[in-house]
Amino acid sequence: MNRSITSHSIVNGRGTAYWLETDRCGLRHFTPEDRGWLQDLYADVEVTRYLGGTKTPAEVDEMFETRILRYYVDHPGLGIWLTLDKATGERLGFHLLNHIQGESIVQVGYSLMPSAWGRGIATEVAEAVLRYGFVDLGLPTIAGMTSMGNVASQKVLLKIGLERRGERAFPHPAYAAEGPLAWFERDRTAWLTAASRASLAPPRTP
Ligand SMILES: CC(C)(COP(=O)(O)OP(=O)(O)OC[C@H]1O[C@@H](n2cnc3c(N)ncnc32)[C@H](O)[C@@H]1OP(=O)(O)O)[C@@H](O)C(=O)NCCC(=O)NCCS
Repeated sequence: MNRSITSHSIVNGRGTAYWLETDRCGLRHFTPEDRGWLQDLYADVEVTRYLGGTKTPAEVDEMFETRILRYYVDHPGLGIWLTLDKATGERLGFHLLNHIQGESIVQVGYSLMPSAWGRGIATEVAEAVLRYGFVDLGLPTIAGMTSMGNVASQKVLLKIGLERRGERAFPHPAYAAEGPLAWFERDRTAWLTAASRASLAPPRTP
């Protein structure tokens, strides 16, 4: 929660520069050259264990056109972005701030390649995305949802400052088969108050 975060190049979102940076990572928009990488991510059994299973290249292509490229145009400022290692330029995964399909609710989310797991990357970048949503976009509420068994993802949502609010199910085919999902959300004012208290807190004594 204390890592430095910059979102100085937000207006530059479509360029090659990162539009949002944390200490270790940068976010940029997907381009057609990233399609094959996304196909690889969705072909990975471990990654998709709680994402409804692997997707075929054709299914990823459909998602890439509608949920990623067209969504950037229809909803400026929101979307699914590539998460890169600033030191190496390696694609680590993606983070998102977008509408739950079929709903007006905005969610934060993430998925990483297994080689990037266990280093706090999901939390580091998701916290920056959440701050961007509340501070830069002024969103009143941001939600998060994940499979009941996806404990790692639930921990990330709690660590970035969302609160568990029971379970929710959605009728859209992307979620319907999963049944009830663990549901998290936080209002802007409550999150900003908690975040500013956390950054003002004195360092822990050993
Ligand atoms: C979920 C995911 C994004 C987490 O990424 P990450 O960078 O490893 O997450 P972080 O390191 O920031 O935090 C993960 C937390 O969960 C914990 N964790 C990891 N695996 C766990 C497991 N199997 N059971 C319980 N806790 C687990 C970690 O210890 C850490 O908690 P801590 O800080 O209290 O130690 C990553 O595992 C992933 O991409 N999974 C596949 C796709 C996915 O499920 N996406 C989420 C869809 S809602």
